[in-house]
Amino acid sequence: MRSIIDVLDLSTEEIEELTACAQDIIANPDAYADVCARKKLATLFFEPSTRTRMSFEAAMYELGGHVITMAGAASSSAAKGESVADTIKTVCNYVDIIAMRHPKEGAALVAANNATVPVINAGDGGHCHPTQTLADLLTIKLEKKRFDNLTIGFCGDLKFGRTVHSLAAAMARYPGTKLVLISPEELKLPSYVKRNALNPAGVKYTQTTDLEEALPELDILYMTRVQRERFFNEEDYLRLKDRYILTAEKMKKAPEDMIVMHPLPRVNEISVAVDDDPRACYFKQVLNGKYMRMALIMKLLKEAGKI
Ligand code: NCD
Repeated sequence: MRSIIDVLDLSTEEIEELTACAQDIIANPDAYADVCARKKLATLFFEPSTRTRMSFEAAMYELGGHVITMAGAASSSAAKGESVADTIKTVCNYVDIIAMRHPKEGAALVAANNATVPVINAGDGGHCHPTQTLADLLTIKLEKKRFDNLTIGFCGDLKFGRTVHSLAAAMARYPGTKLVLISPEELKLPSYVKRNALNPAGVKYTQTTDLEEALPELDILYMTRVQRERFFNEEDYLRLKDRYILTAEKMKKAPEDMIVMHPLPRVNEISVAVDDDPRACYFKQVLNGKYMRMALIMKLLKEAGKI
């Protein structure tokens, strides 16, 4: 049974196939309205979410399917001490596919190992978030028209930001990718991401603490929120949270065709004045996420012989 835990579980050919499918859904939504009729998706969210859970649910409804949801660990038997493995073995009796978010790194893999239906990782702790990356990749494809020869600046919490880990790994596979890693010393990209994804692909990257200095060379600026819930103490969070704030003034230093991305939710790191800049793409990412999740749900259900 195929599950998607990491974005690298998908080949670059499959990423092409999914982005092409999402573009076809955008052009011909009616053709997909019944593809998943009578199929059920469970959304199991042990951590807060707005976009990821709702876009999975909207995606399944737009494919003609049904959704059952568990939003918040407090309302489920997890609050009584049930393991992820037992919860998954239970939920597999009710549905055809599962999207799960959990605060522990590796929980999605445990879920997949105990499932009889496909499991999609909707974020496991500070580890990875493959479907946000699919949303990001469709946005890059639509806005920049290519995946190769792009210089991407990741800015903010590169240590705990799971969307950064997944997108950096995905982009590492394309020729000519350059990364500029902009963060405070304490929030640098984990060495395992460099070791497992960047170094084997020979990706060029530089590390800096200076956003403004990096801006002129970027094709894409990927801003992130400082991940308060993953900090060990509040003091460190308060010290680091407003380190980078993208303003309209700073955008003057960015190239005319640079795009600004952010997985959202935004706290302070992009001032609302930037929203009116045509280079701001973060709300486009939200919509693109729904289309890519539709494409992924269809692909996995087809491979499982369910549709
Ligand atoms: C991100 C996440 O959950 O990792 N949000 C999302 O899914 N779009 C980013 C974040 O919470 O900062």
